[in-house]
Amino acid sequence: MADKIIYPIFDKMMSRQDKESLLGQRGTMIWMTGLSGSGKSTVAIGVERELHRRGILCRILDGDNIRAGINSNLGFSPEDRRENIRRIAEIGKLFVDTGIVTIACFVSPTRELREMARDIIGAEDFREVYIATPLEECERRDVKGLYARARRGEVKDFTGISAPFEAPEHPDLCLDTSRMTLREEVEAVVKLLLP
Ligand code: ADX
Repeated sequence: MADKIIYPIFDKMMSRQDKESLLGQRGTMIWMTGLSGSGKSTVAIGVERELHRRGILCRILDGDNIRAGINSNLGFSPEDRRENIRRIAEIGKLFVDTGIVTIACFVSPTRELREMARDIIGAEDFREVYIATPLEECERRDVKGLYARARRGEVKDFTGISAPFEAPEHPDLCLDTSRMTLREEVEAVVKLLLP
């Protein structure tokens, strides 16, 4: 690493401020954390549609575009989850620095991982949304059939069953999708962004 020289060209590039004034919005990361099947992506899609309707440019980062692509070499060991979240946070920062409202939907199961994401992105641009749907409800939904497989021991290190999930202590917002409607959830996230 010591002999790696990166020539700074930042002073020549258009700034974040230039982009934010072009778009007329402020780049922010909405970081959704919660168990598999808790509803992170559903809420994110609802928020994206509502913000788009209000003329705000958004980008969702989720397993489909990250774990299937740039992170396709990563599994679910603690080291791989760490590298997964590190890359997502670095990519997310590029979007935020472009003035885009970025919504990340990843289990991100430990406080340490979420703190790393917050450190990379910067606390002033980071909003933590805990999708607090209880495990029983996620398991009842079992959209991908993974809980059943994890209970049978066919998926190892499965979050909530055989790997830990640490609930955030002070999230900016906490939503339990088994007790709220999607419209209420979307409204709460939009309010967090545009008070
Ligand atoms: S994270 O822990 O590294 O943040 P991420 O959000 O990218 O996880 O991926 C979680 C998704 O991968 C789950 O919604 C589920 O569909 C799938 N998955 C496959 N194996 C596991 C596992 N062992 N633990 C958790 N999720 C898994």
